[in-house]
Amino acid sequence: MDVGETRTEEDYLFDSGSDLGAEHVGHLESLLDDPTTRWLEGTGIGPGHHCLEIGAGSGSIARWLAERVVPGGRVVATDVATEQIARHPGVEIHRGDITEGVPPGGPFDLIHARLVLTHLPQRERVLTELVRALAPGGWLVLGELTPRPPRVLAAPRSSDRELFERMQHLSMDVVSPAGGISFQWGAEVPDRMAREGLEEVRATEWSRTNVGGDHGCLLHRNLNLQADAPLRAAGATEEELARYRELMLDPGFTAWFYQFVCTRGRRPV
Ligand SMILES: C[S@@+](CC[C@H](N)C(=O)[O-])C[C@H]1O[C@@H](n2cnc3c(N)ncnc32)[C@H](O)[C@@H]1O
Repeated sequence: MDVGETRTEEDYLFDSGSDLGAEHVGHLESLLDDPTTRWLEGTGIGPGHHCLEIGAGSGSIARWLAERVVPGGRVVATDVATEQIARHPGVEIHRGDITEGVPPGGPFDLIHARLVLTHLPQRERVLTELVRALAPGGWLVLGELTPRPPRVLAAPRSSDRELFERMQHLSMDVVSPAGGISFQWGAEVPDRMAREGLEEVRATEWSRTNVGGDHGCLLHRNLNLQADAPLRAAGATEEELARYRELMLDPGFTAWFYQFVCTRGRRPV
């Protein structure tokens, strides 16, 4: 069922309700669901637990959680754009902006958000509110991208390496910060959780090489297309954008460029 009808997307650079947005979320799931669920498993989530999935995207993690907490438990899956969240037993879909408050249904035994707080200028206040919404012994799990620089391992032309680095620079150092995104946040989360009084704070980091045409490169191509206007405004030329988008489809290109850090902490019992 849909609960609530508030929708504000002004702080979010990408629109997950669009076709490109749906593709974007699909690539994230293919890349990150495996490391995410391995880290979630360590919380001991099980039947009867109440969960909150924030910025659910198409809801793959909400469904994974529901399969573990039903019977007796449920998952509130919230997003500013709920069109992509597939219906599933045990999942309650809630349309809302997390910066305007935690959805009803708490306290929660587990709250998870992946690549959401990193987009929000209000991320520190949101984290404080999420900690307050945890049940005693409940877990907060946040997945974010870390700021390590990408590394090209193979490219069809030597100029492609420079192009890749320039496009990463424009995306990560110019366009993303202007859109309110922080790539430092992932590294700050463990300390922020500890300051909020969470215990058993631990983080895991995951990375893999990406080859033109695979989910990692297609995700970069997709983000580049979604950020077309701000990238041009930041100085990217027509030729650079066209070559970059071609490169992301070329199996002759390989790079390290995703470092995903997933942190969990537990409210004292
Ligand atoms: C990068 S996508 C990640 C989707 C999903 N968590 C995943 O990792 O597959 C960010 C998601 O957060 C949602 N979002 C952005 N700002 C939000 C806000 N203020 N409140 C709730 N959801 C938000 C977007 O609509 C989008 O679905």
